[in-house]
Amino acid sequence: MHWTHKDLLDVCDLSTGDVERIFETADSFMEINRRPVKKVPTLKGKSVVLFFAEPSTRTKTSFDVAAKRLSADSFSLAKSGSSLSKGESLKDTVWTLEAMNPDAIVLRDSRSGAARFIAERLNCSVINAGDGWHAHPTQALLDAFTLRRAWGGDFTGRTVTILGDIAHSRVARSNVNLLTRLGATVRVCGPRTLLPPRLDSWPVTVCHDLDSGVDGADAVMCLRLQLERQQDGLLPSLREYAQTWGLSRRAMRKAKGGAKVLHPGPINRGVEIASDLADDADSLILDQVASGVAVRMALLFLFLTRKD
Ligand code: CP
Repeated sequence: MHWTHKDLLDVCDLSTGDVERIFETADSFMEINRRPVKKVPTLKGKSVVLFFAEPSTRTKTSFDVAAKRLSADSFSLAKSGSSLSKGESLKDTVWTLEAMNPDAIVLRDSRSGAARFIAERLNCSVINAGDGWHAHPTQALLDAFTLRRAWGGDFTGRTVTILGDIAHSRVARSNVNLLTRLGATVRVCGPRTLLPPRLDSWPVTVCHDLDSGVDGADAVMCLRLQLERQQDGLLPSLREYAQTWGLSRRAMRKAKGGAKVLHPGPINRGVEIASDLADDADSLILDQVASGVAVRMALLFLFLTRKD
């Protein structure tokens, strides 16, 4: 069966069969990542542009590592240092990049819908690496892949709590869609000022205090406070947020035994999550990073070898 999707804009564009195919492909790449020589010639001759108009460590680096391990050529462009900073539009920038004939552009941009906007105008594949508040599909895929490996494959009967700044989080939006479709029950939990409007249309249970959010959960995913997207006055102070909503070993006593802790990063230790919990044996934070390389290798492989 050939992969036929041209672009990855959000997880809702993928069937559960597509997701399983990505996971199975990523499983095989996890093995390559453990070899002494971590390079295969699979995508030799293909090229990928990493166009990050917003800061990134994990997503950008792991796409770069993924491309190189598959022998694709990768080229990076950031907002600073590019002609975007001289006023060139996103449309002209990506048309300029496409004229160099890459096979895919991986885009991060602060504007929701930016990836769709360029995907509709380009012939090469576009992979959304996070657009505003809207979506972060590769993060949701790597989060679910990490949990699938930790749980031996099955999401049925599992409860995942997503904790913190739900309102401004593209990670939360993509994870709610994917985890519920894979069979998990999803709760969202956070201060009322950081919950989005129309939450009743989301397939989630809403918890308004940390204890009930964590109670009986199989996994808790902390979110970063998206201070760059927040208006002033949503929180009394970071100190009060940490005291009321920060995830700690004490708070995790309410969760199921062996419950997993996730965070997409970057983490603010002592704010969203206690430092000792972030480094705990049940923390999957660094497993998420390792999974990110394998999942992005799988995505590059599938999208760059697609057949129309
Ligand atoms: N999780 C995530 O998107 O991290 P980066 O901003 O470092 O890419």
